[in-house]
Amino acid sequence: MADVSGALGTLTQQALRELADAQDVGALEEWRTAVLGRNGSLAGHMRAIGQLPPDQRPGAGQAANAAKRALETAYDERESQLRSVALDSQIEADRIDLTLPARRLHTGALHPTTQTLRRITSIFRDLGFRVTEGPEVELDWYNFEALNIPEEHPARDMWDTFYVNPPSVVMRTHTSPVQIRTMEHSQPPVRVICPGRCYRYEAQDASHEWMFYQVEGLAVDQGLTMADLKGVLVAFAQRMFWPDIQCRFRCDYFPFVEPGMEMSVQCPVCRGSGCRVCKASGWLELLGAGMVHPEVLRKVGYDPDAVNGFAFGMGPESIAMVTHAIDDIRLFYGNDLRFLQQFA
Ligand code: FA5
Repeated sequence: MADVSGALGTLTQQALRELADAQDVGALEEWRTAVLGRNGSLAGHMRAIGQLPPDQRPGAGQAANAAKRALETAYDERESQLRSVALDSQIEADRIDLTLPARRLHTGALHPTTQTLRRITSIFRDLGFRVTEGPEVELDWYNFEALNIPEEHPARDMWDTFYVNPPSVVMRTHTSPVQIRTMEHSQPPVRVICPGRCYRYEAQDASHEWMFYQVEGLAVDQGLTMADLKGVLVAFAQRMFWPDIQCRFRCDYFPFVEPGMEMSVQCPVCRGSGCRVCKASGWLELLGAGMVHPEVLRKVGYDPDAVNGFAFGMGPESIAMVTHAIDDIRLFYGNDLRFLQQFA
């Protein structure tokens, strides 16, 4: 009995000294395993009590339990001491230095195409046009047939086409199919513009992308004339560029308009004096346009003897290239931040 008590006393004293030496949570855990753990030194002493003569066991058991309680209490105190020391040093290390300069925030900005589209749509809204949209995956009927471009018609060569499900489902090659979808669901007077993405199966170069945007315009009413069309387009150019910009109209062919034309404007880069952008001509082709073909009106159930219309289609990237003097359309969708950040 005396031996057991003596050994427990020695163990307790030594363990308490070691506990005082533990300087961090890791050392503390090692101490706990070595002293209080299942195979620790205290457990060894407790097992030894079983070997004592029966009359000595109760006294030895009480002494062992008292040692265990004392060691556990000492452990809890040391643990809370060490945790508060660790917390203090973490707070010290994490202290915010209010005198440091603030980090710069990088804010996003609208893509140059989006900026141009917003400008174009806002101008046409002011001119009384409503904005509408149509699907990018389109039926051959809307992209070609209803626009007076039947199968095998040579004019189909004007639009190199991605077929999703040949021969009837295509990626739209222009926004003109939205003209048909709009007229199908509304009665004249109609006045809409339709911005959206288009796709063409063509080689990329400085002025051609396989994916690009167009903005379509359509007006249908009684007694519209080429003068109305020209008036709208000139008003647009004056607002988009500058008030006395020169506009030029020349004949062009699109199967869904008759007569058809293209509109050029005085080169906004050199103001007509001739430069690299306008290839020294002083003019830049801006859009295709014309009076809606009677056959197209008939296809949507309108009476071409009662109403007529005009339509136009333009490329916002081409316009942005002119207004920002960008010489390669491939920059728009190359995702190079050095290019895009210039428009922030
Ligand atoms: C058309 O697509 C006609 N639908 C426009 C139209 C509408 C005419 C209504 C008459 C009445 P065009 O293929 O020329 O026309 O394209 C119109 C504009 O889209 C071009 O002036 C150009 O700015 C842009 N565009 C055409 N192809 C590409 C391309 N591969 N990459 C970038 N922009 C393009």
